[in-house]
Amino acid sequence: EEVPWDPVAAEKGHYRHFMEKEIFEGPRAIMDTLEGRIAPGHGRVMLSELTRLGPSPPEIVFVACGTSYHASLLGRQLIESLSDIPVRVEIASEFRYRPLRIRKGAWVVGVTQSGETADTLGALDHARREGYLTLAVTNVPGSSITREAEATLLTRAGPEIGVASTKAFVAQMTAVWLLALHLARRTGLREEEGSRRSLELLLRAPARLEGFLGAIDLAAIDRLAEKVASSRFVIFIGRGLDYPLAIEGALKLKEITYRPADGYPGGELKHGPIALIEPGVLVVAPLVDLDLAAKEWSNIREVEARGGTVVTIASPESSPVAPSYPLPPTDGWEGMFFATAVLQLLSYRTAVLMGNDVDQPRNLAKSVTVE
Ligand code: G6P
Repeated sequence: EEVPWDPVAAEKGHYRHFMEKEIFEGPRAIMDTLEGRIAPGHGRVMLSELTRLGPSPPEIVFVACGTSYHASLLGRQLIESLSDIPVRVEIASEFRYRPLRIRKGAWVVGVTQSGETADTLGALDHARREGYLTLAVTNVPGSSITREAEATLLTRAGPEIGVASTKAFVAQMTAVWLLALHLARRTGLREEEGSRRSLELLLRAPARLEGFLGAIDLAAIDRLAEKVASSRFVIFIGRGLDYPLAIEGALKLKEITYRPADGYPGGELKHGPIALIEPGVLVVAPLVDLDLAAKEWSNIREVEARGGTVVTIASPESSPVAPSYPLPPTDGWEGMFFATAVLQLLSYRTAVLMGNDVDQPRNLAKSVTVE
């Protein structure tokens, strides 16, 4: 793996670990990823990088691994709600060995922080050979995927040193949000109003996340971290936008704390995982999807009724009772940045509490260049 050596970026400053520093660099990652991509005066997203791919595609297929796969799942939600383009998301290592049953003219989008993940490169190569247009969304300029793909949309999180991805995930969320706005089909007044509002929220997200992180209650996070550390098993649940956040939360926890954890769509709980619920099992629920929060609360009640402990991360709009960790008020997608920061810090503080090597977790590599 080749991380360009930058002594300034590699400086931990007053932070104990790179992971911690990088979580707090989230606002910067959003801001830098937005830079120069909103047409001045027009309030419209213009991704000139995509010009060579031509007009909007009839279908989009994301291929990715790990955290980048979770960002792609968010991308599906955002693109499908602002346009009529059908979107699929595939695990790169599965996609690359299947016949491609996708529409002519589809874009195959490889999302990868490092730009070097062998499975994602293989998936894109597979698509390109079959004549599909390929787009790379990557954080590393000049990485292998930028040479493989027809076009590249860079995330600008800066070099990420911690093995567990944090600010790069935040930059990927920004990139897929931009992509959704770029592809938004203005078919009516309501839709136009929707994307204008969405762009406003995205533009103010760096400042709001900065304010949120500046006032973060680490003592409260540590109390939750103690619950995580003392639980036998942790299940993350979420619906809608909260589903990718939940499975990313579970991945983060596995990566650096080695605690048994898994993530499920809230509605799937009753189809199996609920059998695991008993005292000693913890359920963590981010609740930022305002449309589905009420449904998720009924899943939470099912857990409580069976003796499980629940940690909720929610804004006032999505929470009938005081949540375990409160998020600022929100009326759109920006809540995903707040919930992500809390979930990343929750894993981080749990790992610190357990005395783990946060930046270099066992068995993991920052970028996996073998199959
Ligand atoms: C490795 C890392 C993960 C990462 C995944 C995909 O497994 O440990 O943190 O999400 O690769 O990496 P990529 O560079 O393609 O985003």
